Amino acid sequence: MGGSRRLLFVLCFLRQVFYAQTDVPLLANSDFFTLNPTQTTITLEKPICMYRPAITVYLYGMVKGAPVLPLYDATTKKVFATNYSATNGGQLGPYQVASFNNPTCDNSIVLSNMADPTRVQSILTATTVRVGSDVGCLTDPNFKGICNAPLQSNTGYRFKYLFMDINNAVISETDWSPPIVTVNGNPSSTIDTWPGRRSGGMIVLTSILSTLVFIILFAYVVGFIFSIVNETPATEVQRHDTQSVPVLPKPQEIGDVTFSSALTGQERERYVAKQQA
Ligand SMILES: *[C@@H]1O[C@H](CO)[C@@H](O)[C@H](O)[C@H]1NC(C)=O
Repeated sequence: MGGSRRLLFVLCFLRQVFYAQTDVPLLANSDFFTLNPTQTTITLEKPICMYRPAITVYLYGMVKGAPVLPLYDATTKKVFATNYSATNGGQLGPYQVASFNNPTCDNSIVLSNMADPTRVQSILTATTVRVGSDVGCLTDPNFKGICNAPLQSNTGYRFKYLFMDINNAVISETDWSPPIVTVNGNPSSTIDTWPGRRSGGMIVLTSILSTLVFIILFAYVVGFIFSIVNETPATEVQRHDTQSVPVLPKPQEIGDVTFSSALTGQERERYVAKQQA
């Protein structure tokens, strides 16, 4: 509850109090992103309630100190589709980082659902934008659209939102943010702090457990097959045993009807004669 209240506070009051004149992209709430920025990413708040009439929003970024080139044509109000590779990752000028629907100015979604763990991820996706999240688009020759490639470590970046109307023309914009510096150094634990992150140890443990489960299942199946194969001869042997019981020679009383009936007439005569002799 404290977290969601603080998020609402950051999204609305803080922005209105301190950035009333100069709206800029802000770092995402530190309650949910304890390591932000990382070496290659910077997670920003989406411009919630910043400019209601807009349909879509463009996020532009550039390296601190790069030339502040215009982002759109002054008369047509159409944006320049500058990209990551052509601007050398923002070092030669601003590039398009991302484009998304203008977030609805509805804080109830944040307030009512932030306590539900299954909805946190979708709420974070709806309220934040992660710069540098696409590790594949730079090397994919068939990639189309805006490539949000990983940022350089230990580098300052500035960001700006453009607000577009239904004809995709610029109708408003924020100022450039102050520089936000990515993390320096090489420890692997700081590369990725997205909430869905898995550690290397966890992956190894999962692999071992999966293998164990497979071995146990395999042993069970083998045991089951063997039990079926062994079952048929076992019952037959039992049946032979019971059949052989009357054949076994055992002391008989003379005129024992049960036993003699199992012998042929000749044998019976011989047997009976022997007993009498
Ligand atoms: C990036 O921009 C350059 C220059 O406009 C263009 O030649 C290139 O095709 C673009 N790359 C992608 C992936 O869109």
